[in-house]
Amino acid sequence: MKKEQYQFDYYRVSDRTELPPEDLSLLIAANKAAQEAYAIYSNFKVGAAARLVNGEIILGSNQENASYPVGVCAERVLLGNAAVQFPGIAIETLAITYLLMDRKSDSPVSPCGMCRQALSEFESRVNHPIRLILAGEVGDLLIVNASIDLLPFVFQRQHLP
Ligand code: THU
Repeated sequence: MKKEQYQFDYYRVSDRTELPPEDLSLLIAANKAAQEAYAIYSNFKVGAAARLVNGEIILGSNQENASYPVGVCAERVLLGNAAVQFPGIAIETLAITYLLMDRKSDSPVSPCGMCRQALSEFESRVNHPIRLILAGEVGDLLIVNASIDLLPFVFQRQHLP
């Protein structure tokens, strides 16, 4: 038996003025997308904004449904939009944020397990890591170099016969 370890580097940003302008504008775009979320059941409005390697910006927000499991997360709405509008074009950076009803969100949001799986498939189909910016409206934010870092032992198409 051999002990192995999984670890990855990420960045914590407490002062948003340290961010490059293109990251700040992506966060603003994600915030705007969150304002358009359809989240009448959870009141948890998530917005995602991606900068593609060709410079285009793609948005997504969560779209809920009276039949709860039908609802789709912001990240997967965005991935579908990206794949349809710019087929084969990789995502450079994806910013994710959220809005609460009663106060400003103040800690980073993290993609759910299903979205991590979807992000991983997108990374592998265009062969490019997706850099993540995870943020609330205020407070620290986190930057992850590649979404695959958040999904160790991922199930991928190579596993299929
Ligand atoms: N949600 C997202 O859109 N993205 C995430 O990263 C976490 C959760 C949505 C799903 C549901 O509409 C609401 O947030 C509450 O879970």
